[in-house]
Amino acid sequence: MKKEIPVDQFMVKASDVWDTGWFLLASGDFKLKHYNCMTVSWGGFGTMWNLPIAMVVVRPTRYTFEFINRYDSFSLCAFSREYRKALSLLGSMSGRDGDKIAASGLIPTAAARIASPVFEQAELRIECRKLYWQDFDPSHFLDSRIQENYASRDYHRMFYGEIVSVTGEEEKYAAKTS
Ligand SMILES: Cc1cc2nc3c(=O)[nH]c(=O)nc-3n(C[C@H](O)[C@H](O)[C@H](O)COP(=O)(O)O)c2cc1C
Repeated sequence: MKKEIPVDQFMVKASDVWDTGWFLLASGDFKLKHYNCMTVSWGGFGTMWNLPIAMVVVRPTRYTFEFINRYDSFSLCAFSREYRKALSLLGSMSGRDGDKIAASGLIPTAAARIASPVFEQAELRIECRKLYWQDFDPSHFLDSRIQENYASRDYHRMFYGEIVSVTGEEEKYAAKTS
């Protein structure tokens, strides 16, 4: 059963949830019906300025870029494998070109603490309030493999968000306290 998990008990294996699991990143305002989302697999969780944070990276070419710049929050939702096809669609089609959310079958819904939406079918919902952004500077890349990701020079913008709410299956996402 899904429950709100205290942020200091939230626990994941990073490679499982990012690299192989994928997240749906959404930003905007659910009440205003103005939001977009896209699949992401690069990012992380950690601590900055004594706050629990999620880090995401968004290329300026993404439609979601407009939303995450304009609004003060974003959400990260994880899904079970049965939604892989939906996440592939949301990670290959742009919201600029049609209602990809309707086409995916995923249902946006109000989040607990932020204006950005989360998704009904998600098994994990992480709500973040934006704290910081910075554009990657290629003159700071210290490994030649990094540049291989930027044939079009569309360097990501990195966003840190304070994690203000986590909802998920306790068994899977909460550290055992006793
Ligand atoms: C598995 C997967 C992971 C992705 N990770 C990222 C990412 O971390 N950052 C990014 O900018 N784009 C990423 N993308 C690409 C976007 O999801 C994709 O371009 C999407 O169609 C953008 O949608 P939008 O234009 O509606 O924002 C990923 C795509 C897939 C399929």
